[in-house]
Amino acid sequence: MVIAPSLLAANFGKLAAETIRAQRGGARWLHLDIMDGHFVPNISFGPEVVRVLRPITRMFLDVHLMCARPEILLEPFAKFGANQMTVHVELNERVTPLLWKIKSLGKKVGLALNPPTSMSHAEPYLSQIDLLLIMTVNPGFGGQPFITETLPKVQQAVAWRRHKGLDFRIEVDGGINFQTAAECARVGADTFVSGTGLFGKRNFKAAFRKMQKIVNVQSRHSLSHSVCRRLIGTRRRAQHLPHGTGEMLRRIPPP
Ligand code: DX5
Ligand code: ZN
Repeated sequence: MVIAPSLLAANFGKLAAETIRAQRGGARWLHLDIMDGHFVPNISFGPEVVRVLRPITRMFLDVHLMCARPEILLEPFAKFGANQMTVHVELNERVTPLLWKIKSLGKKVGLALNPPTSMSHAEPYLSQIDLLLIMTVNPGFGGQPFITETLPKVQQAVAWRRHKGLDFRIEVDGGINFQTAAECARVGADTFVSGTGLFGKRNFKAAFRKMQKIVNVQSRHSLSHSVCRRLIGTRRRAQHLPHGTGEMLRRIPPP
């Protein structure tokens, strides 16, 4: 389980200190929301922020490009040290070249989809990605309420991942707090972006730990996980396999 605090909810007057606060609070990932005023009705920040933050943190920099022309940003973000770049499936025929470009830059490849976009748009790309970002609010602003109707998309992603034998991460983004993180973990999400829910708290570390504990407990109750565990148990007994990892659990074919 990965929890990625979103820098969008940090104090922009002290981004370096806020980044350190997240890292000291236990975060291994930092989510960076890049908004261009075209794809979404808001503007945030660009590659320069990654250039400044990269030397001060070891965290995995998870760059979410809510941009009409991500083509012009991939190289700068890669050069300055982003670890993963996520583009939106709503860019249609430009998605394939964008995914290839991110891969060719040696970065992890993410694909995002907005709440109104059907999962069928993402399906053709699943074998090419490291992460599927399911937006749980309409992108553009932090602090919005979670859209519960997006939860079946997480279940669909879990089912496809299992049926197709893939191992992409399933990330949820928008309105993630203790309660909604639990709901997402229960249906199989494994990567949780939270801005206001963490940076908005006085005690970041306590909030981070609490969210981590919640998603770990809830994921153990998730149906897909328990089905996988049963399957791997049966297989291990049959084939004398050693105790599996999370990755192995995900590769179990459908019953
Ligand atoms: C929304 C962004 C989110 C946002 C989440 O457009 O993609 O990453 O920062 O913020 P909260 O957790 O405050 O909803
Ligand atoms: Zn985001």
